[in-house]
Parts: sequence; structure tokens; C-alpha cells
Amino acid sequence: MRVYVEDVARHAGEEVTVRGWLYHRRSSGKLHFLLVRDGTATIQCVMFVKDVPPELFERAGRLPQESSLEVTGTVRADARSPLGYELAVRDLRVLQEADEYPITPKEHGPAFLLDHRHLWLRSSRQHAIMRVRASVVRACREYFDRRGFTLLDAPIFTPAACEGTTTLFGVDYFGTPAYLTQSGQLYIEAGAMAFGKVYCFGPTFRAEKSKTRRHLTEFWMIEPEVAFADLDDDMALAEDFLVEVVGRVVAERRAELATLERDLAPLERVQKPFPRVRYEEALALLAADGKPLAFGNDFGGDEETVLSQRFDRPVIVHRYPAASKAFYMKPDPADPRLALCVDVLAPEGYGEIIGGGQREDDLAALERRIAEHNLPADAFGWYLDLRRYGTVPHAGFGMGIERMVAWLCGLHHVRETIPFPRMLERLTP
Ligand code: 4AD
Ligand code: MG
Repeated sequence: MRVYVEDVARHAGEEVTVRGWLYHRRSSGKLHFLLVRDGTATIQCVMFVKDVPPELFERAGRLPQESSLEVTGTVRADARSPLGYELAVRDLRVLQEADEYPITPKEHGPAFLLDHRHLWLRSSRQHAIMRVRASVVRACREYFDRRGFTLLDAPIFTPAACEGTTTLFGVDYFGTPAYLTQSGQLYIEAGAMAFGKVYCFGPTFRAEKSKTRRHLTEFWMIEPEVAFADLDDDMALAEDFLVEVVGRVVAERRAELATLERDLAPLERVQKPFPRVRYEEALALLAADGKPLAFGNDFGGDEETVLSQRFDRPVIVHRYPAASKAFYMKPDPADPRLALCVDVLAPEGYGEIIGGGQREDDLAALERRIAEHNLPADAFGWYLDLRRYGTVPHAGFGMGIERMVAWLCGLHHVRETIPFPRMLERLTP
């Protein structure tokens, strides 16, 4: 019977056939130990010289890594293997004998590995990271699906900027200039007025010209938007969402996180309440840590790292100076220099994973902001309609999937958190 490796436990003592790729081979005279992976898991297949024809034994002894195979044998308990089982091989069929595989156990630099990303994805670490990513996406979607949010996808071709004009990717849309979306927010604001609670999930694009370990030019964002919500509601939603998503991913992906040698203790501390600090309090903390910053400046990666290292769980920073923020943010009525906005910084130095806030819901104020930001008024006519026809307070946020995965997996750089990363100097493979 053909089985997936992850299901062999159900066939102990039976003969099964698995199909996969040779991950590693070790031989000792009369025995070959063939590690075969099929994408679901990896199993050690033990080929004993007496159990197979001599030419097959000889061929198995020189099979290159990543050759595709079909292996038939009996499932045996094996306490030493992480899977708990191995295969006693009776037959092996080589589907394709691979060329010499370029990725070897020796240390390769990141550029070489990224050039071979289409192959690198087969390695155990990358496999573990992608499975964590899949669980993050599922947990995020289920969080909102179970709470009555409607999924409302935002367009990718857009006529105008959402997050500032400096990081726009322009495209020629049948002769009209258009841009790849930076965020679905403006569209799900329309959605919130139609459905109350909505979220979108999709790729977003920013022409980030700096090389940092946190920036991609194409990344995936999940963005909820809620009508009648204010900044406090927004912060509570972000906190509840993170606690649930982190908890579910840790529970579901223990094996993968172990492969990545991720210390789970910091993730298990992700419980309510998260510390909340105002921007100005954060400035004081930064000054105390030898990173003074003048009022008005946004935090860069360094500041976020220093701040997030001060806390043992995600920290909520709110009310940044309005001048450094996007046009749609509502000023704080108690101090209009500040915006009713929020960032959530992940601990262990990871920095911002969520950004959001309460939106400007007043038509005249929004018209002024659009003009101040030199944005093309005609492209925002539809958005202003949302303030003409039953405007209400509303708020939301966006969480970048890649930054979340980098933190959960304990990775140094976001480039390993997406199957095919796009960065300033990388468009291939
Ligand atoms: O803080 P940002 O720019 O917020 C927005 O786009 C809002 N419109 C979202 C909203 O309120 N609906 O981006 C949100 C998140 C960041 O916290 C970060 O996790 C991620 O998106 N992000 C990036 N991830 C990878 N590479 C980049 N270049 C990113 N830029 C933002
Ligand atoms: Mg931000």
C-alpha cells in the first residue's frame, strides 16, 4: 500500500510503499541507511545486503541526494528515530537519478542559498519554517472567521498611495499610471461600513530601498477593520489576536519549532496583558538606554530593537506624533500633535509586527490631510464618500506575516519566511 511518511505509524508491521526523495545516505558495508523525505516527514529506510538483489544494493550505495524514489518495505518501530519508525527495505525503484545536488551540508552563504531557493525549500529548516508560516496564516484567518469578520479582499492594482508616496511601485495600467497596493486598508474601511467587521489578507508591495533584516518589497499582510471601534478597542483586538495566534502556532508546530531549535519560553509568555506605553514614554525609555531621539521622529529598526528588548512579551506603543504618520490617522483630541495609532513590537528585539489605529472619520479634516500630504484629491473621492455617507469611528491594524514568522521561528532575517523573497536586490528565482 502507498502511504505518506507521516502516516506510517498506522501501518506498523505492514509492508508499505513510500514515494519521495533521497535526503541523506549513510552506508556501512552490509547496510545502507537511506533517509527519504516525502514532504510530510522523513523516514530512515534500512537496506540490508541480504534482502535485495546485489545490483540494487550496489546502485543504492551511489545514489545522489534528491534522487526520486519509490521504496517498499516493512514498517518497524525504531525508538531512536524522531518519527518512531523505520522501513526495512525489500525493494527500491529509482524514478530519477538526480544530478549532483548543489546544496551540500557545508556552510553556504545566503546569496548562494537564495539563488537556489527553489531547491533550498527542501531542506529541513526551510521546510519547518514554511509549515510554521502555513499555520500562522491559518490561525490568523480562523481568528477572524470565528468572530464574525467577513473576508473582503482588496485590489492589488490601485490608483493611489495608502502608506506614503516614497515606497510606491508604479505599473502602466493600459496607459494610466497605477500602483501595486501597499495595504488593503482604505478598501476594507469601505468594507467595514458595509459589513461591520471585515479583514483582508493578501500580498502587499513597497519599494523599500533600504536593505534591512525586516523589509521585503513583497510581503503578506492580514488587516482587520472594525466599525464603531476606537483606539482602545483596536489595541485590545491586536492583543487578543496575538495571544491566540501565537498559542495556536506553538501548539500545532512543536516539532517544527524544535527543528529550528526555538526556545519556546518567550513564546509561552505571550499572555495578556501586554505592557502599553505612549510614544513619549517610549522616548524616555530609549533615552535611558542611551538611544535618545527627539520628539517627532519615528522609530527605526534600532529603536524598536532596544525597546522590545525591555519587555518579556509584546509591547504596545501608542500615540506617535501625527506628523510622521499616514494621512488617514485621527489626531488625539486630547493632544492633536499625536495620532490615535498603535504599533505592537515583538519581544527579543524583533520590533514592529503590527501597525494600525483609529481612522480620521471627519470629512473636512480628512480633506485637509489629503491636501497637506500632496495626495491627488481625485483618486480619493471614493474614500471621502465613506465620510459623507454615515461616517462612524472605526479602527483596524495590519500584521505582516513574514515578521510574525521570523519572530516565532527565531530567525535573524525575514528572507527565510516567505517561499520566494523579493527584496531590493532580488527578483529571482
Ligand atoms: O505599519 P504598516 O505600514 O501599516 C499599514 O500598512 C496599515 N495600513 C495597516 C492597517 O492599519 N490596516 O504595516 C503593517 C505591518 C507592519 O507592522 C509589518 O509587520 C508589516 O506590515 N510590514 C512589512 N513586512 C515586511 N516588509 C516590509 N517592507 C513591511 N512593511 C510593513
Ligand atoms: Mg508601521
